[in-house]
Amino acid sequence: MASIPHPIQYQGSKRNLAHVILRYIPKNVDCLIEPFAGSAAITIAAAARQMAKTYLINDLNRPLAELLRLIVQFPIDTASFYEKLWNEQHGDSIEHYYRTRAEFNSTQDPRLFLYVLARCVKGSVRYNADGMFNQSPDKRRHGTLPQTMRSNIYGVSTLLNNKTEFSSVDFREVLVKAKKNDLVYMDPPYQGVCGDRDSRYFSGIDHEEFVIALAELNRREISYIVSYDGRRGEKTFGMLLPESLELTRVELDAGRSSQATLLGRDEVTYESLYLSPSLSAKLNHIPADYHQPKMQQYSLLEPHTEYA
Ligand SMILES: C[S@@+](CC[C@H](N)C(=O)[O-])C[C@H]1O[C@@H](n2cnc3c(N)ncnc32)[C@H](O)[C@@H]1O
Repeated sequence: MASIPHPIQYQGSKRNLAHVILRYIPKNVDCLIEPFAGSAAITIAAAARQMAKTYLINDLNRPLAELLRLIVQFPIDTASFYEKLWNEQHGDSIEHYYRTRAEFNSTQDPRLFLYVLARCVKGSVRYNADGMFNQSPDKRRHGTLPQTMRSNIYGVSTLLNNKTEFSSVDFREVLVKAKKNDLVYMDPPYQGVCGDRDSRYFSGIDHEEFVIALAELNRREISYIVSYDGRRGEKTFGMLLPESLELTRVELDAGRSSQATLLGRDEVTYESLYLSPSLSAKLNHIPADYHQPKMQQYSLLEPHTEYA
């Protein structure tokens, strides 16, 4: 997937797992809906393979959703703004970062957010209790080169312009729009990281409320995929989704964590992917060679190998 454009550096981006997740998306989707889009890695990868007729990108983080809209609808201006800002950092790059971050926090200008995300530590977003972006600059890097950023922006715009709707509302407002021939991909914020609130994202979600929303999607026979919990070695993170939802759970090999490698442990991280009953019914029931979770009975599905 090396040639898929990615302008936005975003912690938790699914860009590296996108090619596997796309295998569970059926053919002839009308609209691919991402209520927790983040950097929209799945939407972009799906659009590169023309897997849906239209796309809906939503994220409660307004500057982020607005940035995606600007990238898609105004690629030339967005790339030029980045280039100008990037060039201004020479002199005192660190001071320039803090000044830009402060300006972003007061104006919420999405174009400033693109630079701040490209320039902060590992593209890893952090918010303080007042909702102010407070991540530090990466002292060793200067952020994506303007010409690389421009080609990523133009690439995403080419893939999504004139077929994508953007919004910045709570995920439940987006779910009401889903129809039977759509596919909803959900990658909500991780659970239980800092109590109720995850400082890594703009907002957290409540597990019970999320389960209720999924039950409602089941009742409406909507096809959906959820990335939720995971496991490294024997250590699980996040709550499992309940069996009452009758989801098919598969574990995806997300590779070795850099932390485990540093500690000399040979531990692979697995991420759970849950498929809705309506989606499972659309896919072929042939055993696949994906890792089988121990904790739950489920049937493995053969993903679409044509995308492998
Ligand atoms: C794990 S990230 C998604 C990452 C994404 N899959 C990617 O590839 O970049 C979760 C996203 O959900 C957003 N979010 C948090 N609460 C939300 C809510 N109630 N409704 C919609 N989006 C929400 C966060 O701002 C964050 O961008």
